[in-house]
Amino acid sequence: MDMKILVVGGGGREHALTEALSRSSGVTICSVMSRKNPGIAALSEDIFLCSETDIPSVVAFARECGVRYAVVGPEAPLEAGLADALASEGIACVGPARGAARIETDKEFCRNLMKKHDIPGCPAFAAFHDVDAACAYLEESGREFAIKPIGLTGGKGVKIMGEHVDVEGAKEYIREIGGEVVLEERLIGEEFTLMTFVDGEHVVPMPLVQDHKRAYEGDEGPNTGGMGSYSMPDHMLPFVTEDDYAEAVAIMEGVLAAMRTEGLVYKGFLYGQFMVTANGPMVIEFNARFGDPEAMNLLTLLSSDFGVIVRKIAEGTLAAEDVSFLHKASVCKYLVPEGYPGNPQKGERIDVGNYGDAVLYYANVTEENGALYTQTSRTLAFVGLGDTLEEAEEKAERAAASVTGAVRHRTDIGTRKVLERRMQHMREIR
Ligand code: AMP
Ligand code: GLY
Repeated sequence: MDMKILVVGGGGREHALTEALSRSSGVTICSVMSRKNPGIAALSEDIFLCSETDIPSVVAFARECGVRYAVVGPEAPLEAGLADALASEGIACVGPARGAARIETDKEFCRNLMKKHDIPGCPAFAAFHDVDAACAYLEESGREFAIKPIGLTGGKGVKIMGEHVDVEGAKEYIREIGGEVVLEERLIGEEFTLMTFVDGEHVVPMPLVQDHKRAYEGDEGPNTGGMGSYSMPDHMLPFVTEDDYAEAVAIMEGVLAAMRTEGLVYKGFLYGQFMVTANGPMVIEFNARFGDPEAMNLLTLLSSDFGVIVRKIAEGTLAAEDVSFLHKASVCKYLVPEGYPGNPQKGERIDVGNYGDAVLYYANVTEENGALYTQTSRTLAFVGLGDTLEEAEEKAERAAASVTGAVRHRTDIGTRKVLERRMQHMREIR
Protein backbone atom coordinates (compact mmCIF):
# COMPACT_ATOMS: atom_id res chain seq x y z
CA MET A 1 0.00 0.00 0.00
CA ASP A 2 1.20 3.47 -0.77
CA MET A 3 1.26 5.79 2.24
CA LYS A 4 2.35 9.38 2.10
CA ILE A 5 3.19 10.77 5.53
CA LEU A 6 4.01 14.26 6.74
CA VAL A 7 6.66 14.52 9.46
CA VAL A 8 6.64 17.74 11.48
CA GLY A 9 9.80 18.88 13.28
CA GLY A 10 13.52 19.08 12.61
CA GLY A 11 15.38 17.63 15.60
CA GLY A 12 17.03 14.33 16.50
CA ARG A 13 13.68 12.85 17.51
CA GLU A 14 12.17 13.72 14.14
CA HIS A 15 15.18 12.33 12.28
CA ALA A 16 14.57 9.06 14.16
CA LEU A 17 10.84 9.18 13.32
CA THR A 18 11.67 9.76 9.66
CA GLU A 19 14.28 7.01 9.63
CA ALA A 20 11.82 4.50 11.16
CA LEU A 21 9.15 5.50 8.61
CA SER A 22 11.64 5.16 5.77
CA ARG A 23 12.24 1.53 6.81
CA SER A 24 8.49 0.84 6.52
CA SER A 25 6.99 -0.65 3.42
CA GLY A 26 5.27 1.62 0.92
CA VAL A 27 5.89 4.86 2.84
CA THR A 28 6.97 8.14 1.28
CA ILE A 29 7.77 11.13 3.46
CA CYS A 30 7.21 14.86 3.19
CA SER A 31 8.64 16.94 5.99
CA VAL A 32 8.26 20.37 7.43
CA MET A 33 10.73 21.95 9.84
CA SER A 34 12.00 25.38 10.72
CA ARG A 35 15.63 24.67 9.81
CA LYS A 36 16.84 22.08 7.35
CA ASN A 37 17.92 18.90 9.09
CA PRO A 38 20.26 17.11 6.67
CA GLY A 39 19.22 13.65 7.88
CA ILE A 40 15.49 14.28 7.46
CA ALA A 41 15.98 16.05 4.13
CA ALA A 42 17.87 13.06 2.71
CA LEU A 43 14.95 10.74 3.51
CA SER A 44 12.16 13.03 2.31
CA GLU A 45 10.56 13.29 -1.09
CA ASP A 46 9.74 16.92 -0.41
CA ILE A 47 10.65 19.33 2.37
CA PHE A 48 9.24 22.71 3.39
CA LEU A 49 11.01 25.13 5.72
CA CYS A 50 8.67 27.16 7.91
CA SER A 51 7.86 27.67 11.56
CA GLU A 52 6.28 24.46 12.84
CA THR A 53 3.61 26.51 14.62
CA ASP A 54 2.58 28.37 11.46
CA ILE A 55 -0.48 26.16 11.15
CA PRO A 56 -1.94 27.52 7.88
CA SER A 57 1.41 27.08 6.08
CA VAL A 58 1.98 23.58 7.44
CA VAL A 59 -1.55 22.52 6.47
CA ALA A 60 -1.21 24.06 2.98
CA PHE A 61 2.00 22.07 2.44
CA ALA A 62 0.35 18.87 3.69
CA ARG A 63 -2.50 19.42 1.25
CA GLU A 64 -0.14 20.10 -1.69
CA CYS A 65 1.84 16.94 -0.92
CA GLY A 66 -1.36 14.91 -0.72
CA VAL A 67 -0.41 13.22 2.56
CA ARG A 68 -2.90 10.96 4.32
CA TYR A 69 -1.24 10.94 7.70
CA ALA A 70 0.89 13.30 9.75
CA VAL A 71 3.34 12.45 12.52
CA VAL A 72 4.16 15.34 14.83
CA GLY A 73 7.45 15.41 16.75
CA PRO A 74 7.39 18.48 19.01
CA GLU A 75 4.67 19.74 21.37
CA ALA A 76 4.45 23.36 20.18
CA PRO A 77 2.49 22.64 16.95
CA LEU A 78 0.10 20.41 18.92
CA GLU A 79 -0.55 23.25 21.34
CA ALA A 80 -1.09 25.55 18.36
CA GLY A 81 -3.84 23.22 17.08
CA LEU A 82 -2.10 21.43 14.21
CA ALA A 83 -3.93 18.12 14.72
CA ASP A 84 -7.30 19.92 14.74
CA ALA A 85 -6.45 21.83 11.55
CA LEU A 86 -5.21 18.71 9.74
CA ALA A 87 -8.31 16.76 10.77
CA SER A 88 -10.53 19.35 9.13
CA GLU A 89 -8.62 18.65 5.89
CA GLY A 90 -9.19 14.91 6.28
CA ILE A 91 -5.57 14.24 7.28
CA ALA A 92 -5.20 11.90 10.24
CA CYS A 93 -2.70 13.20 12.76
CA VAL A 94 -0.61 11.00 15.01
CA GLY A 95 -0.40 13.59 17.76
CA PRO A 96 -3.38 14.74 19.83
CA ALA A 97 -5.78 17.61 19.23
CA ARG A 98 -5.10 20.77 21.18
CA GLY A 99 -7.55 19.91 23.97
CA ALA A 100 -5.96 16.52 24.63
CA ALA A 101 -2.40 17.88 24.30
CA ARG A 102 -3.13 19.92 27.44
CA ILE A 103 -1.96 16.84 29.33
CA GLU A 104 1.49 18.25 28.52
CA THR A 105 0.91 21.91 27.75
CA ASP A 106 -1.03 22.76 30.92
CA LYS A 107 0.45 21.34 34.14
CA GLU A 108 -2.57 22.45 36.17
CA PHE A 109 -4.95 20.63 33.83
CA CYS A 110 -2.78 17.51 34.10
CA ARG A 111 -2.73 17.42 37.90
CA ASN A 112 -6.42 18.29 38.20
CA LEU A 113 -7.31 15.46 35.80
CA MET A 114 -5.29 12.98 37.88
CA LYS A 115 -6.89 14.19 41.10
CA LYS A 116 -10.45 14.29 39.80
CA HIS A 117 -10.23 10.75 38.41
CA ASP A 118 -8.28 9.32 41.34
CA ILE A 119 -5.37 8.27 39.17
CA PRO A 120 -2.55 6.97 41.39
CA GLY A 121 0.93 8.49 41.31
CA CYS A 122 -0.12 12.12 41.65
CA PRO A 123 2.08 14.09 44.07
CA ALA A 124 0.50 16.67 46.39
CA PHE A 125 0.20 19.93 44.48
CA ALA A 126 -1.29 23.40 44.47
CA ALA A 127 -1.80 25.62 41.42
CA PHE A 128 -1.58 29.42 41.47
CA HIS A 129 -2.22 32.32 39.11
CA ASP A 130 -0.84 34.95 41.39
CA VAL A 131 2.68 35.71 42.67
CA ASP A 132 1.74 36.71 46.21
CA ALA A 133 -0.55 33.74 46.84
CA ALA A 134 2.07 31.29 45.55
CA CYS A 135 4.86 32.88 47.61
CA ALA A 136 2.72 32.99 50.75
CA TYR A 137 1.84 29.30 50.38
CA LEU A 138 5.47 28.41 49.84
CA GLU A 139 6.55 30.34 52.93
CA GLU A 140 3.79 29.08 55.23
CA SER A 141 4.18 25.42 54.33
CA GLY A 142 7.91 25.38 55.09
CA ARG A 143 8.32 22.38 52.73
CA GLU A 144 10.41 21.83 49.62
CA PHE A 145 8.63 21.95 46.27
CA ALA A 146 9.15 21.39 42.59
CA ILE A 147 8.25 24.71 40.98
CA LYS A 148 6.65 24.30 37.57
CA PRO A 149 5.45 27.01 35.23
CA ILE A 150 1.91 26.00 34.18
CA GLY A 151 2.59 26.39 30.46
CA LEU A 152 5.21 24.99 28.08
CA THR A 153 8.85 25.65 28.80
CA GLY A 154 10.64 23.38 26.35
CA GLY A 155 11.40 20.92 29.16
CA LYS A 156 13.77 23.28 30.95
CA GLY A 157 11.54 25.26 33.27
CA VAL A 158 11.26 23.20 36.45
CA LYS A 159 13.21 24.34 39.50
CA ILE A 160 13.59 22.05 42.49
CA MET A 161 13.98 23.54 45.96
CA GLY A 162 16.99 22.09 47.71
CA GLU A 163 18.58 21.32 44.34
CA HIS A 164 18.41 24.41 42.12
CA VAL A 165 17.01 27.06 44.47
CA ASP A 166 16.46 27.90 48.15
CA VAL A 167 13.29 29.58 49.50
CA GLU A 168 14.36 33.05 48.35
CA GLY A 169 15.41 31.72 44.94
CA ALA A 170 12.08 29.92 44.66
CA LYS A 171 10.13 33.11 45.33
CA GLU A 172 12.27 35.00 42.85
CA TYR A 173 11.57 32.35 40.21
CA ILE A 174 7.81 32.52 40.88
CA ARG A 175 8.00 36.30 40.36
CA GLU A 176 10.04 35.81 37.17
CA ILE A 177 7.41 33.52 35.65
CA GLY A 178 4.55 35.79 36.67
CA GLY A 179 2.86 33.60 39.30
CA GLU A 180 1.38 31.06 36.83
CA VAL A 181 2.75 28.08 38.69
CA VAL A 182 2.13 24.61 40.08
CA LEU A 183 3.92 23.86 43.34
CA GLU A 184 4.41 20.15 43.77
CA GLU A 185 5.65 17.93 46.54
CA ARG A 186 9.33 17.28 45.90
CA LEU A 187 9.74 13.61 45.05
CA ILE A 188 12.88 11.58 45.78
CA GLY A 189 13.85 8.54 43.76
CA GLU A 190 15.00 7.47 40.31
CA GLU A 191 13.39 8.54 37.08
CA PHE A 192 12.32 6.46 34.14
CA THR A 193 10.42 7.06 30.91
CA LEU A 194 7.49 4.94 29.78
CA MET A 195 6.32 5.87 26.30
CA THR A 196 3.20 4.41 24.71
CA PHE A 197 1.37 4.31 21.40
CA VAL A 198 -2.25 5.40 21.84
CA ASP A 199 -4.98 4.98 19.22
CA GLY A 200 -7.80 6.64 21.12
CA GLU A 201 -8.69 3.47 22.98
CA HIS A 202 -5.72 1.19 23.36
CA VAL A 203 -2.43 1.89 25.09
CA VAL A 204 0.53 -0.11 23.79
CA PRO A 205 3.64 0.35 25.94
CA MET A 206 7.18 0.62 24.62
CA PRO A 207 10.37 -0.48 26.46
CA LEU A 208 11.48 1.58 29.45
CA VAL A 209 14.22 4.16 28.91
CA GLN A 210 16.19 6.41 31.23
CA ASP A 211 17.09 9.94 30.15
CA HIS A 212 19.84 12.13 31.67
CA LYS A 213 18.67 15.71 32.15
CA ARG A 214 21.76 17.21 33.73
CA ALA A 215 24.44 18.78 31.56
CA TYR A 216 27.54 17.22 33.13
CA GLU A 217 28.98 13.89 34.19
CA GLY A 218 27.66 12.45 37.44
CA ASP A 219 24.34 14.33 37.02
CA GLU A 220 25.87 17.69 37.84
CA GLY A 221 25.06 21.08 36.38
CA PRO A 222 21.95 22.66 34.89
CA ASN A 223 19.00 20.79 33.39
CA THR A 224 19.02 20.33 29.63
CA GLY A 225 16.61 18.90 27.06
CA GLY A 226 18.33 15.55 27.79
CA MET A 227 21.97 14.56 27.20
CA GLY A 228 21.41 10.91 26.39
CA SER A 229 19.52 7.79 27.35
CA TYR A 230 19.71 4.02 27.53
CA SER A 231 17.46 0.98 27.51
CA MET A 232 18.07 -2.67 28.38
CA PRO A 233 17.67 -5.92 26.38
CA ASP A 234 14.72 -7.05 28.56
CA HIS A 235 12.93 -3.70 27.99
CA MET A 236 12.95 -3.03 31.75
CA LEU A 237 15.31 -1.11 34.04
CA PRO A 238 17.03 -2.87 36.96
CA PHE A 239 15.72 -0.41 39.57
CA VAL A 240 12.10 -0.73 38.38
CA THR A 241 10.21 -3.77 39.72
CA GLU A 242 7.49 -5.69 37.87
CA ASP A 243 4.98 -4.10 40.24
CA ASP A 244 6.31 -0.59 39.54
CA TYR A 245 6.02 -1.28 35.84
CA ALA A 246 2.46 -2.62 36.09
CA GLU A 247 1.45 0.43 38.14
CA ALA A 248 3.01 2.80 35.61
CA VAL A 249 1.16 1.13 32.73
CA ALA A 250 -2.10 1.28 34.73
CA ILE A 251 -1.53 5.00 35.30
CA MET A 252 -1.12 5.61 31.57
CA GLU A 253 -4.32 3.65 30.91
CA GLY A 254 -6.06 5.60 33.66
CA VAL A 255 -5.10 8.89 32.06
CA LEU A 256 -6.45 7.80 28.70
CA ALA A 257 -9.72 6.61 30.27
CA ALA A 258 -10.03 9.90 32.18
CA MET A 259 -9.53 11.88 29.00
CA ARG A 260 -12.18 9.82 27.24
CA THR A 261 -14.60 10.52 30.10
CA GLU A 262 -13.85 14.22 29.61
CA GLY A 263 -14.68 13.88 25.91
CA LEU A 264 -11.07 14.18 24.75
CA VAL A 265 -9.83 11.82 22.06
CA TYR A 266 -6.13 11.04 22.31
CA LYS A 267 -4.27 9.62 19.34
CA GLY A 268 -0.53 9.68 19.19
CA PHE A 269 2.38 9.05 21.48
CA LEU A 270 1.84 9.45 25.21
CA TYR A 271 4.98 9.87 27.25
CA GLY A 272 5.03 9.23 31.00
CA GLN A 273 7.91 10.57 33.05
CA PHE A 274 7.93 8.67 36.34
CA MET A 275 9.94 8.69 39.50
CA VAL A 276 10.17 5.43 41.43
CA THR A 277 9.99 6.49 45.04
CA ALA A 278 9.82 4.63 48.34
CA ASN A 279 6.05 4.47 47.65
CA GLY A 280 6.28 3.19 44.10
CA PRO A 281 6.06 5.12 40.84
CA MET A 282 4.92 8.74 40.90
CA VAL A 283 4.19 10.88 37.86
CA ILE A 284 6.62 13.71 37.14
CA GLU A 285 4.79 14.72 33.97
CA PHE A 286 3.15 13.54 30.77
CA ASN A 287 4.18 14.62 27.30
CA ALA A 288 1.98 14.49 24.23
CA ARG A 289 4.82 13.24 22.02
CA PHE A 290 7.91 11.07 21.87
CA GLY A 291 10.73 12.03 24.21
CA ASP A 292 13.94 13.42 22.80
CA PRO A 293 16.46 11.65 23.18
CA GLU A 294 14.36 8.58 24.15
CA ALA A 295 12.78 8.40 20.67
CA MET A 296 16.20 7.68 19.19
CA ASN A 297 16.73 4.62 21.40
CA LEU A 298 13.34 3.11 20.76
CA LEU A 299 12.85 3.92 17.09
CA THR A 300 16.26 2.38 16.40
CA LEU A 301 15.10 -0.75 18.22
CA LEU A 302 11.65 -0.82 16.62
CA SER A 303 11.46 -4.01 14.57
CA SER A 304 7.83 -3.81 13.42
CA ASP A 305 6.58 -1.63 10.58
CA PHE A 306 6.17 1.94 11.83
CA GLY A 307 3.93 2.83 8.87
CA VAL A 308 1.48 0.15 10.00
CA ILE A 309 1.56 1.53 13.55
CA VAL A 310 0.79 5.03 12.22
CA ARG A 311 -2.12 3.74 10.15
CA LYS A 312 -3.54 1.69 13.01
CA ILE A 313 -3.26 4.59 15.47
CA ALA A 314 -5.26 6.67 12.99
CA GLU A 315 -7.85 3.90 12.53
CA GLY A 316 -8.08 3.13 16.25
CA THR A 317 -7.15 -0.52 15.70
CA LEU A 318 -3.69 -0.78 17.25
CA ALA A 319 -2.90 -4.01 19.12
CA ALA A 320 0.13 -5.13 21.12
CA GLU A 321 1.01 -7.61 18.31
CA ASP A 322 1.59 -4.69 15.93
CA VAL A 323 4.49 -3.42 18.03
CA SER A 324 7.83 -5.16 18.57
CA PHE A 325 11.29 -4.07 19.54
CA LEU A 326 14.65 -5.82 19.29
CA HIS A 327 15.78 -7.41 22.53
CA LYS A 328 18.99 -5.43 22.61
CA ALA A 329 20.44 -2.73 24.83
CA SER A 330 20.56 0.77 23.36
CA VAL A 331 22.64 3.79 24.36
CA CYS A 332 22.08 7.26 22.92
CA LYS A 333 24.59 10.07 23.42
CA TYR A 334 24.00 13.64 22.36
CA LEU A 335 26.80 15.92 21.25
CA VAL A 336 26.02 19.49 22.35
CA PRO A 337 27.77 22.80 21.65
CA GLU A 338 30.44 23.87 24.16
CA GLY A 339 28.71 26.10 26.70
CA TYR A 340 25.28 24.44 26.23
CA PRO A 341 22.74 25.05 27.72
CA GLY A 342 23.60 28.48 29.17
CA ASN A 343 25.96 29.91 26.60
CA PRO A 344 26.19 27.62 23.55
CA GLN A 345 28.87 28.28 20.93
CA LYS A 346 27.01 28.65 17.68
CA GLY A 347 28.37 28.42 14.13
CA GLU A 348 31.34 26.21 15.06
CA ARG A 349 32.44 23.71 12.47
CA ILE A 350 32.44 20.09 13.58
CA ASP A 351 33.74 16.98 11.87
CA VAL A 352 32.33 13.51 12.33
CA GLY A 353 34.97 10.76 12.25
CA ASN A 354 34.55 7.04 11.79
CA TYR A 355 31.49 6.20 13.85
CA GLY A 356 31.48 2.47 13.24
CA ASP A 357 28.08 0.83 13.25
CA ALA A 358 26.48 3.35 15.61
CA VAL A 359 23.46 5.17 14.12
CA LEU A 360 23.83 8.91 13.54
CA TYR A 361 20.87 11.24 14.06
CA TYR A 362 21.18 14.91 13.15
CA ALA A 363 19.55 17.45 15.43
CA ASN A 364 20.15 21.22 15.69
CA VAL A 365 22.96 21.41 13.14
CA THR A 366 23.34 23.09 9.77
CA GLU A 367 25.12 21.79 6.71
CA GLU A 368 26.92 24.18 4.37
CA ASN A 369 29.01 22.94 1.46
CA GLY A 370 29.20 19.53 3.04
CA ALA A 371 30.45 20.82 6.40
CA LEU A 372 28.45 20.74 9.67
CA TYR A 373 28.04 23.71 12.02
CA THR A 374 26.63 23.92 15.54
CA GLN A 375 23.50 25.87 16.41
CA THR A 376 22.30 26.77 19.91
CA SER A 377 20.62 23.51 20.87
CA ARG A 378 21.69 19.84 20.85
CA THR A 379 23.79 19.11 17.75
CA LEU A 380 23.62 15.43 16.83
CA ALA A 381 23.38 12.06 18.51
CA PHE A 382 24.64 8.51 18.17
CA VAL A 383 22.81 5.36 19.13
CA GLY A 384 24.71 2.15 19.78
CA LEU A 385 22.88 -1.19 20.00
CA GLY A 386 24.31 -4.33 21.59
CA ASP A 387 23.51 -7.60 23.29
CA THR A 388 24.71 -6.01 26.51
CA LEU A 389 24.64 -2.47 27.86
CA GLU A 390 28.45 -2.44 27.79
CA GLU A 391 28.53 -3.25 24.09
CA ALA A 392 25.91 -0.61 23.24
CA GLU A 393 27.68 1.99 25.37
CA GLU A 394 31.04 1.29 23.80
CA LYS A 395 29.63 1.78 20.30
CA ALA A 396 27.87 5.04 21.19
CA GLU A 397 30.90 6.34 23.10
CA ARG A 398 33.37 5.51 20.34
CA ALA A 399 31.13 7.25 17.81
CA ALA A 400 30.66 10.34 20.02
CA ALA A 401 34.42 10.55 20.64
CA SER A 402 35.03 10.56 16.86
CA VAL A 403 33.51 14.04 16.56
CA THR A 404 35.95 16.94 16.63
CA GLY A 405 35.12 20.62 17.11
CA ALA A 406 33.50 22.74 19.82
CA VAL A 407 31.08 20.08 21.06
CA ARG A 408 30.97 17.85 24.12
CA HIS A 409 29.03 14.85 25.37
CA ARG A 410 28.55 12.92 28.61
CA THR A 411 30.90 9.96 28.64
CA ASP A 412 29.11 8.39 31.63
CA ILE A 413 25.70 7.78 30.02
CA GLY A 414 24.95 4.08 29.67
CA THR A 415 27.91 2.98 31.77
CA ARG A 416 27.56 0.23 34.36
CA LYS A 417 28.87 2.66 36.99
CA VAL A 418 25.90 5.01 36.53
CA LEU A 419 23.48 2.10 36.55
CA GLU A 420 24.97 0.75 39.80
CA ARG A 421 24.61 4.18 41.39
CA ARG A 422 20.91 4.31 40.47
CA MET A 423 20.35 0.80 41.87
CA GLN A 424 22.20 1.68 45.06
CA HIS A 425 20.08 4.83 45.45
CA MET A 426 16.88 2.78 45.13
CA ARG A 427 18.12 0.20 47.67
CA GLU A 428 18.71 3.06 50.11
CA ILE A 429 15.27 4.59 49.80
CA ARG A 430 13.02 1.51 49.40
P1 AMP B 1 10.26 18.53 33.39
O1 AMP B 1 10.70 19.83 32.82
O2 AMP B 1 8.86 18.51 33.85
O3 AMP B 1 10.68 17.35 32.55
O4 AMP B 1 11.07 18.35 34.75
C1 AMP B 1 12.45 18.45 34.75
C2 AMP B 1 12.99 17.64 35.88
O5 AMP B 1 12.57 18.18 37.12
C3 AMP B 1 12.48 16.22 35.91
O6 AMP B 1 13.16 15.39 35.02
C4 AMP B 1 12.74 15.86 37.36
O7 AMP B 1 14.10 15.53 37.54
C5 AMP B 1 12.48 17.16 38.08
N1 AMP B 1 11.14 17.15 38.71
C6 AMP B 1 9.98 17.50 38.15
N2 AMP B 1 8.95 17.38 39.03
C7 AMP B 1 9.51 16.94 40.19
C8 AMP B 1 8.98 16.63 41.50
N3 AMP B 1 7.68 16.75 41.81
N4 AMP B 1 9.87 16.22 42.44
C9 AMP B 1 11.19 16.11 42.17
N5 AMP B 1 11.73 16.38 40.95
C10 AMP B 1 10.91 16.80 39.98
N1 GLY C 1 13.60 13.67 27.25
C1 GLY C 1 12.63 14.49 27.85
C2 GLY C 1 11.68 15.12 26.95
O1 GLY C 1 11.62 14.84 25.76
O2 GLY C 1 10.94 15.95 27.42
